[in-house]
Amino acid sequence: NGKTIIAPSVLSADFSRLGDEVEAVCRAGADWIHLDVMDGHFVPNITFGPPVIKAIRDRTKKVFDCHLMIAPVAPYIGAFACAGCDIITVHVEATTHLDRSLQAIRDVGCKAGVSLNPSTPESVIEYVLDRLDLVLLMTVNPGFGGQAFIPAVVDKVRRVKSMIGRRPIHIEIDGGVTQETAPLVSAAGADVLVAGSAIFKGGSEEAYAENIAAIRTA
Ligand code: DX5
Ligand code: ZN
Repeated sequence: NGKTIIAPSVLSADFSRLGDEVEAVCRAGADWIHLDVMDGHFVPNITFGPPVIKAIRDRTKKVFDCHLMIAPVAPYIGAFACAGCDIITVHVEATTHLDRSLQAIRDVGCKAGVSLNPSTPESVIEYVLDRLDLVLLMTVNPGFGGQAFIPAVVDKVRRVKSMIGRRPIHIEIDGGVTQETAPLVSAAGADVLVAGSAIFKGGSEEAYAENIAAIRTA
């Protein structure tokens, strides 16, 4: 639907032309840019860090939505803020002191998010709701683009929606989002959809625009 925020994951972009890809996907209708940071330790893949984010920061004014799949995460929050991230999301499974990490994110002037792996119950956010701007529910096991959507998480979306009540907290979905799966999570209460492979397939700005429109109208 029209109010849904679409956040393309540049994980599926052409890294040799990353700045141009960010510009193209923004012109094609992206609302936010989703940045998947992986460390080869918390997840079995390695992507990029603050210098790369800083290098593409001036290509758009859109929100930089940074998904940190790294452990430990606390020592790096300041560096990602300095690189130009607007939202910083940490995995609950990657930080021993979730409350402290969320405070640290707001202390550096960013919006704070927490991400839950598919098997992690939503109860972990119960006592940090007042420190949260976003809950990111993984619908794949983090590490790679192009994996299949895990339908069991749809129920968790509904539960998180009811837990947050009237608080202004986004519910973001990440992994296997397509025009087929988007309506399931939107109906359950998600308002931010991350998509990598479904948006960057086709490799051109025209294709990105079609792909974003297909998810938006699904
Ligand atoms: C997975 C990443 C996702 C990924 C999504 O670890 O967090 O953002 O890029 O890719 P698709 O949309 O292809 O599942
Ligand atoms: Zn992500």
